[in-house]
Amino acid sequence: MRMRFKPYARPELLATDWHAHTPLENKGHWHQQFVRVDAPMHLELGCGKGGFLARLASSHPENNYLGIDITDKVLILAKRNIERIYAEKGLPVDNVQIMSLDIERILSAFDENDTVQRIYINFCNPWNRKHAHQKHRLTHTRQLALYRTILADEGEIYFKTDDENLFNDSLEYFPEAGFDITWMTRDLHAEEPEWNIRTEHEAMFTEQGIKTKALIAKKRTIENEAEFLADAIAKRTAIEKAEGAAIKAAEDARLAAKKAAKAQK
Ligand SMILES: C[S@@+](CC[C@H](N)C(=O)[O-])C[C@H]1O[C@@H](n2cnc3c(N)ncnc32)[C@H](O)[C@@H]1O
Repeated sequence: MRMRFKPYARPELLATDWHAHTPLENKGHWHQQFVRVDAPMHLELGCGKGGFLARLASSHPENNYLGIDITDKVLILAKRNIERIYAEKGLPVDNVQIMSLDIERILSAFDENDTVQRIYINFCNPWNRKHAHQKHRLTHTRQLALYRTILADEGEIYFKTDDENLFNDSLEYFPEAGFDITWMTRDLHAEEPEWNIRTEHEAMFTEQGIKTKALIAKKRTIENEAEFLADAIAKRTAIEKAEGAAIKAAEDARLAAKKAAKAQK
């Protein structure tokens, strides 16, 4: 569903002191943006309306959290949800910040000094299987290579999705980018772990009868990391181009058969 432009969003976010107004300027200094500078930092990529982040962060004052989304239209809802949930619990909002950023350019705002222990990716856009589209997936090998810069050794990524293709492909992306998948399920709610917090999209897909697929992946230390990742990305690109060519050939054949059948009539 396309959301309308919200003219009040930017001014309200700019009046919030836990909204990062100029994220690029915090590059290399994210820990210093929090009251507890030594606390572990966790990120949520594509935090949407923020219900997950609000409940998670307010239950874990021992960690600092950063919620990132590309658009103020949803970030404003995250801001209000965080405010409401912290107020209900009688807590000050001092361990969470939100910001708008295109995650495909995450390293414009973070570097290796901004070490994070954990990244959450919940119900990101699945994109389709064409090469030009797949590379925008937030779990794509190319993206995972970027996250490695800021993830601590043995840092983890918690990933949930409704989408079968994205999940299956992600089972390849993670090992390719030097992550070990330490846990996975194709039906998260069958035996729901006590740590799970259902997101807005998770609730919506569950109501439609779509199962939540989930995994936890741990960053593995790899030698010659730059070379390893360049090689992994090149191989992934080749796989996607071959798949794209096969999809196109099948589509061309289908159209040619349709045309021939029409001509015979
Ligand atoms: C399908 S919603 C899921 C929201 C939430 N995580 C949930 O589970 O309910 C995907 C979110 O990711 C954000 N998003 C998509 N691409 C992004 C990107 N490249 N950078 C930052 N946020 C992005 C969208 O704006 C949207 O809020």
